[in-house]
Amino acid sequence: MKTLIAYDTRYGTTATIARWLCEAVAGECDIANVADVASLDYDLVVIGSPIYTDAPLSSVTQFLHDHGEALNQKNVALFFVYDELLTEKSETYAEELREYAPPDVLAVGIFGGYFDISVLNEHDRHTMEDFFERLGKRYEVLDHRNKDDVVRFGKLLLEKLSEARRSTI
Ligand SMILES: Cc1cc2nc3c(=O)[nH]c(=O)nc-3n(C[C@H](O)[C@H](O)[C@H](O)COP(=O)(O)O)c2cc1C
Repeated sequence: MKTLIAYDTRYGTTATIARWLCEAVAGECDIANVADVASLDYDLVVIGSPIYTDAPLSSVTQFLHDHGEALNQKNVALFFVYDELLTEKSETYAEELREYAPPDVLAVGIFGGYFDISVLNEHDRHTMEDFFERLGKRYEVLDHRNKDDVVRFGKLLLEKLSEARRSTI
């Protein structure tokens, strides 16, 4: 079995989660930034994005749009990385991401991310400072990454994949 995990990231968290997921799925697994995906010739294609200002990255939604027809023929799963302390909209994000994807994705993974104000570029730092001001709170570092959640999602995908295979026999 061959899996592709295609993702984008600004500060590396989604890349870390993609690596954890690769470890959790059995068989061959390739990881590529959505900008570098050369082929979709895989048994399972998992597409992941972080959430910024209430939306997945446009590089990822564009990838889903550009490869819509090919992805329609594939076993596809999605995941996103967000911070639940900043927002409590994980279900909304999951629904929004589904809108860009083929209708019958196997599952949507929802993963806590990592945030460190000291590494942000100027634009993102200003966005967060404005947000914190409105919130009346300030965070320097938030770490909600959880490898067990990611491994569990990997196992769920393997189960869903074998269900999907059984139903087409
Ligand atoms: C400028 C900025 C905006 C963000 N906006 C949101 C948001 O709207 N909702 C949310 O749940 N998380 C938000 N986050 C948290 C990120 O999704 C989280 O830090 C994630 O781990 C970043 O992943 P990356 O390192 O792969 O880019 C934001 C983070 C930053 C720095």
